[in-house]
Parts: sequence; structure tokens; C-alpha cells
Amino acid sequence: MMTTNNKLFILLVTILVSIMATTAEVTPVYVNIGFTAQQDEMRVSWYTVNNSTAGVVRYSNQSMELDLAAGATASASSSSTEYGEFPGWFGFVNTAVMSGLAPLTQYFYQVGDASADVWSPVFNFTTGAGATVFKPFAFSVYGDMGGGNYMLNVDSLITNSDRFDWILHVGDIAYADYSNSSSNKGIRSGMLGNMTVWNDFMTSITPFSAHQSYMTCIGNHDAFLNKSAYTTTWIMPSESPLITWYAFDYNGVHFVSMSTENDYAPGSEQYVWLENHLQQFRASNPNTWLIVYGHRPFYCTTVINWCMGTNNLALYEAMDPLMMKYNVDIFIAGHTHAYERSFPVYDKVVAGTFAEPKATVYISVGVGGNWEGLDPLFNVDKPHWADYRKTELGYGILNVVNETTIHWQFIQQSDDTAVMDQFTLIKGTF
Ligand SMILES: *[C@@H]1O[C@H](CO)[C@@H](O)[C@H](O)[C@H]1NC(C)=O
Ligand SMILES: *[C@@H]1O[C@H](CO)[C@@H](O)[C@H](O)[C@H]1NC(C)=O
Ligand SMILES: *[C@@H]1O[C@H](CO)[C@@H](O)[C@H](O)[C@H]1NC(C)=O
Ligand SMILES: *[C@@H]1O[C@H](CO)[C@@H](O)[C@H](O)[C@H]1NC(C)=O
Ligand SMILES: *[C@@H]1O[C@H](CO)[C@@H](O)[C@H](O)[C@H]1NC(C)=O
Ligand SMILES: *[C@@H]1O[C@H](CO)[C@@H](O)[C@H](O)[C@H]1NC(C)=O
Ligand SMILES: *[C@@H]1O[C@H](CO)[C@@H](O)[C@H](O)[C@H]1NC(C)=O
Ligand SMILES: [Fe+2]
Repeated sequence: MMTTNNKLFILLVTILVSIMATTAEVTPVYVNIGFTAQQDEMRVSWYTVNNSTAGVVRYSNQSMELDLAAGATASASSSSTEYGEFPGWFGFVNTAVMSGLAPLTQYFYQVGDASADVWSPVFNFTTGAGATVFKPFAFSVYGDMGGGNYMLNVDSLITNSDRFDWILHVGDIAYADYSNSSSNKGIRSGMLGNMTVWNDFMTSITPFSAHQSYMTCIGNHDAFLNKSAYTTTWIMPSESPLITWYAFDYNGVHFVSMSTENDYAPGSEQYVWLENHLQQFRASNPNTWLIVYGHRPFYCTTVINWCMGTNNLALYEAMDPLMMKYNVDIFIAGHTHAYERSFPVYDKVVAGTFAEPKATVYISVGVGGNWEGLDPLFNVDKPHWADYRKTELGYGILNVVNETTIHWQFIQQSDDTAVMDQFTLIKGTF
């Protein structure tokens, strides 16, 4: 006869054994794709709770030929990085590179684990024309999105996704250094970050981040856990995974991302890279569109600590001469929760016009929506280099019309058909 205690013990052991034997949870939770430095590649990354034993992306230019057994499909194994030994953080970011892709071609793909036979839905993307092959395109851009009412922007981006080819989030992604709360106000969770907030954000953007390249730069709200959540999740085409500055080409336009959250002073590792890169690029491409972006602006007039006084002086002094010297056409930033843009300007003096620019145009678009709300005030003494200024949630669409014309639009979030501001920039030489 078993005693009640014995029965309980057997029950407990059975439960424990079944918990330990539970199959690994390798279902893709969120998915995002991004450019690499190679034109015939696309990176795809996805999160799983447990490590995949056979993580893989399978892809094809035919929508329904993803079955590996059917033989019509290419595949690439993934590698994974564990989020690490941080309180509240667990799981793995899996990443794989699809290669051998033809230009201007639609591809279909699924990510998952081949041994568990667990797969994401089928997503698709379209490849670009090439590094030096010019083809008109558009990208959407915003910063400072996550928490609070950002879902409005997400809905608007989904609605308008046929108006752009890829997405650029200029830092402050998810605001996972805050926790959610019932009062719908963020609570500061500090430098440990909150993985639930991070993963919920990543899941909410998956409808477009799995379909169009989602490029990022690091913002101050992404620097928690010593930047490791950011660098684990967002694998950009930098020289190594921990470096947060990089460059890439798309349809004959050159993009350079700097990190305002790392040392950018003359002589720093980043500054040396940036100057060498810009110099080398311009030496052989004197007439190519060149767009630089980073999280914090330096031509800005929003009344927050960053723009006022001397706080952005070091960034301004380091970057203003570089933008001018290497004929950077546009610099895009976020950080201030307002929309504003300049005339072509160098050394705080307007240089030329949009039709004949003699210096860089500066755009701040940190209005994706977040816990902290908008920054409603602008410096009352509007500098003469400041053009349009408005505090409104939304995002930009930068349309590269041809090799000499860019058309910029700012779309208001609350009415996603409304163009609140726009300008046409002709390629300048300076
Ligand atoms: C899966 O991950 C969870 C969370 O880290 C962990 O508790 C569990 O033991 C893991 N399961 C397996 C089978 O590895
Ligand atoms: C995940 O599992 C794979 C395959 O077993 C292994 O090669 C890899 O080292 C693991 N990754 C991590 C981060 O533990
Ligand atoms: C699809 O890919 C296959 C294999 O790479 C290739 O032979 C075929 O021409 C491609 N079809 C189209 C429509 O691009
Ligand atoms: C490609 O993906 C988009 C976004 O999910 C979807 O709307 C579209 O129908 C897909 N195209 C095809 C041919 O499946
Ligand atoms: C993290 O955020 C989630 C969702 O907002 C919240 O329920 C949880 O309490 C937060 N965790 C911590 C440690 O703050
Ligand atoms: C961050 O880095 C510092 C210095 O390298 C170290 O002392 C600290 O423990 C790290 N914090 C975390 C959360 O990893
Ligand atoms: C570029 O586009 C603009 C606006 O449509 C047009 O006026 C201009 O002629 C085009 N330039 C070239 C070189 O095609
Ligand atoms: Fe910021």
C-alpha cells in the first residue's frame, strides 16, 4: 500500500520530469529583416525563448516552394546569441543571412527550426537594384517610438507601406528602459530595461519589419544593459557586432549611420572611421546622394536640455565640418520629440537654397510617439537657418526621385493621408 505521502512524491516527480522534458520553445516570436553590406544578401533575425537546435531560414523567389523537401528552396542556417545573464532577460536572438539574391526580385521566406518543424508565417520582401545602380525609391523615417500611443504610428505605417521600400528608425526604439503601467504612463525601469516591453515592441512592428528592411541606430533609451540588448537585437552592417556605426548602399544612394551614444570626438575610434569613410566615398563618388543619420540632432531649436545651451555643442563642433567637407546632402536625427528641419546650413549660416544647396539640410523627426510625450516648445528666437517647425506625431517619407531630386514629406500620424510639410531638394555640390 502506498501512503498518501508516497503518492504525492510520485506525482511531484512526474510533474518535475514532464517540466524538464518539455520541448524547447523555438517558435519565432518576432521577425525583422535588414540590409547587409552585400547587395545580394538580406539578413533576417528572430527571437525564440529557447535555443534552436536547427535554426534556419528557407527562402525562394516562388511563393509556395518553401518546403525544403521540394528542393526548390534555398536555406541558410542561423546562429544565435543569448540575451544574457541579466535579471528579467532570457531567450535567444537567431540570425541568418539569405544570399545569392537577384536584384529587384520578390522573395518569400520562413524562419524556424527544421528539427522541431516549427515555422513562422511566410513573409516576403523585394531586393534593391544594386549599390551603384540608381533606381528611384523611398524610405520612411522616424525616431523615438515605443510606449504610450506609438501604436497609431504603427497602424499608419502599415496602411502606407506601399509608399516606401524600407524603414529607418533613428534611435530610441521601444523605450524598454520604461515599464508599462495601468495608468498608461511609463515607469522608469532603469538600466536593466524590461524585456517584456522590448519584445512587445518588436512583435508590434513585425508586420512591416519582416517585410521591409528595418534599419536602426542606437539612441539613449537603447543603451541599457551596456547596449547589449540593442546590439544583440539589431545586427546592422557594421564592421563587427558590437560597433554601432556602419554604412550601406541602396539603389545608388549611400547611407552612413553614426552613433551619438558613443564617443564621436575628433580622434575617437568612431570619428576616425567616419571621416575616413566619408572621405573615401566622396573621393570616388562626387555626385552621389549621401545621407547620414544618428540619434541626436545638432541643428535643433526644441526647448529641451539637449538643444538649449551648450549640451549639443561637442556634437555640433565635431560633425558640422564633416557634413560640409564631404558634401553630405541630408542629416537625419530624432531625440527631440518635435518635427523640425533647416535650410541648407553650415556654421549656423544659411548656404544656398533647396534648389541650389551649398550645405547640408538637417531634419529632426523624433515624433514616433513614446511615454515621454511631445516637446511642445520651440526656441522663441527662431534662428534664421531654421525653416519648418511643428510638434506633431508622425513620420517622414524620403523619396529619392532621381539622381538630382529628393522629395521629402512629413506625414501626420493622426491623419495618415495628410502631408504636413514637404520640400524638394536638388542635388548640391559643395
Ligand atoms: C527554455 O527557456 C526557459 C526560459 O529561459 C527555461 O526556463 C527552460 O528551461 C528552457 N527549456 C529548455 C527545454 O531548454
Ligand atoms: C544554440 O544551439 C546550437 C546548436 O545546438 C549551438 O551550436 C549554439 O552554440 C547554441 N547557442 C547558444 C547561444 O547557446
Ligand atoms: C527563381 O530562382 C530560380 C533558382 O535560383 C531561377 O532559376 C529562376 O530563374 C528564378 N525565377 C524568377 C522568376 O526570378
Ligand atoms: C507580401 O507581404 C505583404 C505584407 O505582409 C502582403 O501584404 C503581400 O500580400 C505579400 N505578397 C504576396 C505576393 O504574398
Ligand atoms: C515589465 O513590463 C511589463 C509590461 O509592461 C510589466 O508587466 C512588468 O511589471 C515590468 N517588469 C518590471 C520588472 O518592471
Ligand atoms: C556594464 O559595464 C560596466 C563596465 O564595463 C560593468 O561594471 C557593469 O557591470 C556592466 N553592467 C551590466 C548590466 O552588464
Ligand atoms: C528629376 O526629377 C525632376 C522632378 O520630377 C525632374 O524635373 C528632372 O528633370 C529629373 N531629372 C533627371 C536628370 O531626370
Ligand atoms: Fe533620445
